[in-house]
Amino acid sequence: MNQKRLVFTMLPLMASALLVVIFIIFNHLCVNTPLLTSSNVQNSTSTKQFSLLIGILTRADNYAHRHFLRLIYGIQSSPLAQIDVKFVFCNLTKQEQRVLISLEILRFNDIIILNCSENMNFGKTYTYFSSLPHILSQSYDYVMKADDDVFLRLMPLASSLQPLPRSDLYYGFVIPCQSMNPFVSYMSGMGYILSWDMVEWIANSDIPRNDTIGPEDKLVGRWLDRGRKARNRFSNKPAMYDYPGMNGRCSHELIPDTIAVHRLKRWDQWLAVIRYFNVTKELKSSKLYHGLDF
Ligand SMILES: *[C@@H]1O[C@H](CO)[C@@H](O)[C@H](O)[C@H]1NC(C)=O
Ligand SMILES: *[C@@H]1O[C@H](CO)[C@@H](O)[C@H](O)[C@H]1NC(C)=O
Ligand SMILES: *[C@@H]1O[C@H](CO)[C@@H](O)[C@H](O)[C@H]1NC(C)=O
Ligand SMILES: *[C@@H]1O[C@H](CO)[C@@H](O)[C@H](O)[C@H]1NC(C)=O
Ligand SMILES: *[C@@H]1O[C@H](CO)[C@@H](O)[C@H](O)[C@H]1NC(C)=O
Repeated sequence: MNQKRLVFTMLPLMASALLVVIFIIFNHLCVNTPLLTSSNVQNSTSTKQFSLLIGILTRADNYAHRHFLRLIYGIQSSPLAQIDVKFVFCNLTKQEQRVLISLEILRFNDIIILNCSENMNFGKTYTYFSSLPHILSQSYDYVMKADDDVFLRLMPLASSLQPLPRSDLYYGFVIPCQSMNPFVSYMSGMGYILSWDMVEWIANSDIPRNDTIGPEDKLVGRWLDRGRKARNRFSNKPAMYDYPGMNGRCSHELIPDTIAVHRLKRWDQWLAVIRYFNVTKELKSSKLYHGLDF
């Protein structure tokens, strides 16, 4: 009897507790849903028009430079494209690298370690492109190979790709410097883009497999020519160039409509570029940043 009465008196209490819980959950959802939609979901992969993987070929030991490039690309994005920036190197050779790079992967998840030994002109680029279809869990519309001494502006880069074909594409800065014909002859290693079907072709064709020794950018052009591939070619001059004074006719002054500036070898050059393109202009003044100049 006593137990029953207890249950009867408890029931309304339990019911109202349940109501409170439901109310809290419901409220929580209502408050959070609009936030989620506006900040995270709206501009996520689903609404972006295409995807781009930027592989920056660098060396495992270049920790400080990688940290700097993470800042440079971590503060950029484009509403048009899902852009993933990853650092690419060959197999590790030191115990210390295995530890430090494991930490980087845990923290940033932006590293690709290829099965090759570190080299510039002995097949790293071939290994990069030909491995991607096997090692990535998703494909991209476009894949870029970029140097680690180039400054890329992701927003104009994405805008320039948006109207271009998604297949049979080879995009970059055509060499020789004075050439305005994207078929004469190949795209500079500063940063060139291939559509995903070209990446798959590189992975499967004998033509690149047999021709991996030499300047990597020139080789890529030769593979595509020999395979009669990449009928869509775009050389983005003057938006891509070498830093003023660094490389003859491949260099010119910084211009507002820039996509890539290459051959940034010294801090003063990086600083000039960061200033010119107002990279830090979003920074708001605060009492926390004593003496920081704007
Ligand atoms: C989402 O992209 C649009 C342009 O498509 C832009 O106006 C808006 O500011 C972006 N929102 C966020 C939260 O990044
Ligand atoms: C890595 O490359 C070496 C030499 O090219 C090859 O013999 C080996 O099978 C490769 N390993 C894997 C896991 O692909
Ligand atoms: C590194 O790559 C080279 C070349 O592909 C391969 O021969 C070698 O076995 C690799 N070393 C390790 C430790 O995986
Ligand atoms: C690639 O090399 C192999 C072995 O040397 C040869 O059999 C094949 O014909 C070559 N393929 C091309 C496309 O050059
Ligand atoms: C940087 O900001 C200044 C001042 O607002 C502006 O005049 C200039 O055009 C900007 N530069 C670029 C490349 O957008």
